[in-house]
Amino acid sequence: MHRDYRLFAIHSRLSSLKLVVPIISPKGGVGKSTVSAMLSLALTDRGISTGLLDLDITNPALHIILGINIHSIKLEEVKGIKPFRPLEGLEFMSIAFFTRGAILPVRGSGIVNIVRDLLAITNWNSTVLVVDTPPGFSDEVFELLLLLHTVNPHVAKPLIITGQSVLSFASTKQLLNLIRRERFEPLGVLCNMCSSAKFLQETAEAYNVEILGCVPFIQNFEEIIGDAKAILKSARPYFNGVIDKILSIVKA
Ligand SMILES: Nc1ncnc2c1ncn2[C@@H]1O[C@H](COP(=O)(O)OP(=O)(O)OP(=O)(O)O)[C@@H](O)[C@H]1O
Ligand SMILES: [Mg+2]
Repeated sequence: MHRDYRLFAIHSRLSSLKLVVPIISPKGGVGKSTVSAMLSLALTDRGISTGLLDLDITNPALHIILGINIHSIKLEEVKGIKPFRPLEGLEFMSIAFFTRGAILPVRGSGIVNIVRDLLAITNWNSTVLVVDTPPGFSDEVFELLLLLHTVNPHVAKPLIITGQSVLSFASTKQLLNLIRRERFEPLGVLCNMCSSAKFLQETAEAYNVEILGCVPFIQNFEEIIGDAKAILKSARPYFNGVIDKILSIVKA
């Protein structure tokens, strides 16, 4: 019988985490990567040791948002590969460290192999792992959720990012149906680039899901990309709902 030797390592790596938060959305460009970066900075700021994994294999962006120079960093090897520490309390891993940011022409089983490699080699030492993903129910998301199932579906609570548009929220409802069918309980929904999340309330009740916050359009965001301190300052006021929910889970 063929066994993928990486699954043993992945199981043990993921079991060491208290909570994994895949950042997912059915739509592209709603701010998954931006929110992943903001949330991990805000969690670290609240004293929670946080890992951040860029699982957008063909289009990683978190190193750009956080201002990490992938060309000058040599990752340390200790029982696997230690993620890079951009600041105290935050660990970061991305395929970009290995591709130097070049686009990888891979699909299907190629993506699955890279996801497994990254999860098998990375030696996290964090309480919470935030995972940025590509849009939709991609190979990356599907493989991550499958692997998390083999560990324990309760360790993973996806945070769904929606925009303010009718179309964005219509597909968010479908995504909620899908992840529940796969036996994952969502952490909640976060509205990004939204002026108000009030319009989501009725749907939240119907779907029994919490609206954990509403991040407005941050006017100077383009200017602060690459500056983690400035991003944290802009993000801090909007992430208390998500962080309180995460704390209630990891401290339970
Ligand atoms: N709250 C915000 N305020 C201002 N600009 C934002 C905000 N959130 C995201 N953006 C901008 O919107 C664009 C899309 O954001 P981002 O790349 O994070 O989306 P995404 O969902 O990760 O996209 P993809 O689906 O391609 O992975 C970027 O230019 C980003 O800088
Ligand atoms: Mg993205």
